Amino acid sequence: MLTNQDSDSGKRTSLHGHWSSKMAFILAVTGSAVGLGNVWKFPYVAGQNGGGAFVLVYLGCVILIGLPVMMSEILIGRRGRRNPVATMELLGEEEGSSKKWGWLGVLGVVAGIFILSYYSVIAGWTLYYIVKSATGAFQSADAATVSGIFSSFVGNWKIVLFCHTLFMGLTIFVVARGVERGLEQAVRFMVPALLALMVVLLGYSMASGSFGLGVAFMFTPDFDALTWQSVLAAMGQAFFTLSIGMGAIMAYGAYLPEETSITGASGAVVTADTAIAILAGLVIFPLVFANGLEPGEGPGLVFQTLPLALGQLPFGSFFSTLFFVLLSFAAWTSALGLMEPAVAWAVEHHRKTRGQAAFLVGLLIWFIGLASVFSFNLLAETTFLAGTLFDNVDYLTSNIMLPLGGMVIAIFAGWIMCRNSTSEELGGAGTLYKMWRFLARFVAPVGILFVLLQAVGLLDKLGLG
Ligand code: TRP
Repeated sequence: MLTNQDSDSGKRTSLHGHWSSKMAFILAVTGSAVGLGNVWKFPYVAGQNGGGAFVLVYLGCVILIGLPVMMSEILIGRRGRRNPVATMELLGEEEGSSKKWGWLGVLGVVAGIFILSYYSVIAGWTLYYIVKSATGAFQSADAATVSGIFSSFVGNWKIVLFCHTLFMGLTIFVVARGVERGLEQAVRFMVPALLALMVVLLGYSMASGSFGLGVAFMFTPDFDALTWQSVLAAMGQAFFTLSIGMGAIMAYGAYLPEETSITGASGAVVTADTAIAILAGLVIFPLVFANGLEPGEGPGLVFQTLPLALGQLPFGSFFSTLFFVLLSFAAWTSALGLMEPAVAWAVEHHRKTRGQAAFLVGLLIWFIGLASVFSFNLLAETTFLAGTLFDNVDYLTSNIMLPLGGMVIAIFAGWIMCRNSTSEELGGAGTLYKMWRFLARFVAPVGILFVLLQAVGLLDKLGLG
């Protein structure tokens, strides 16, 4: 998919070649964006934060902050054409500022390592659910049975650890062999297949009798009940689901051909990602209400509702198996993106081979992941600040590190880079450009800072800050 042609414009080219087509780029970015964040995290975080108002804030953040930050990341990446650390150093100097912007890349490397540490644990759950589905455990099962299967599974740290190890192994294998391209091809059928399956499930949830309740929960905002912590969670979710704020998209942007429209590509990815998340919510919440479950259930929400619904359908075991296979694939393609900044950095700064780098970085991530493995069993009662160790790693990365990274990216693209550089990358200084620049200069950085400060202020009042 990558070709080694130099661009005709005589501008900088990437050492690793360029994407062969705009479609290849969109597939790669979609593969990283669509993952557990849409199907697993969005419904459970929306449920924990009361639904409606959270969903609205999330959508607002996606459009007003997520989209301009994604465009900024891609344009910075394409202009620098290096790994995120080197790109930020280079552009920092080129735009008359300093090499210190490279620290943003380091923040991204660390964020990726921590996110993947728990992402892999949840992806391990999906692997386990493939086997459970295939062996017919959910066929015609009732709500209590499905919930029972979930709690006895996560309560058993040995199996959870095994699945986490297996998933990290698969990820290390692909990253080490450098065969990501193959997986990106998989995105071509996986994302449409996931969408199609969700539409089938939507039909089922519409027939569940509680569709109205689910829709009302998702779309009736109760702003009185909205806390700044929920606003922060919504903003964090927007960053997480779009894979932005840590330089991963910047790294992909480095291989993007000159002529591809950054605005168009970003719009396509954001639309697909948001559609899948909303669809997941529309499938899951009616099922939650139809089966007397709690929307604020937490990380187990999807694992307790979807197998239940699928188990009621004809060929339920088949569909359930298919669903978890697709979800595992989606998680896999995201995991590659999460690991890439750390691996690229280890290769370039520590002179490791790609295989060594993948193994060492993977081992570190696996080890940090133990904290999340045990958060659902041995250490389930060990809670502080945001909750269990898992909750804290998630909170620190999604709600603090990604928004901070996104703020720096927006400030860099909006204030440090000159007008000529950014308008050149975004294809002219028309209305869309002006809108992007306004969002990147003012709305995104100010919005992010404001929400962070409000949320921290709230912590202060609670005596936690
Ligand atoms: N967006 C991914 C998901 O929704 C998770 C993710 C966050 C990610 N940051 C990333 C993936 C960076 C790749 C690169 O599941």
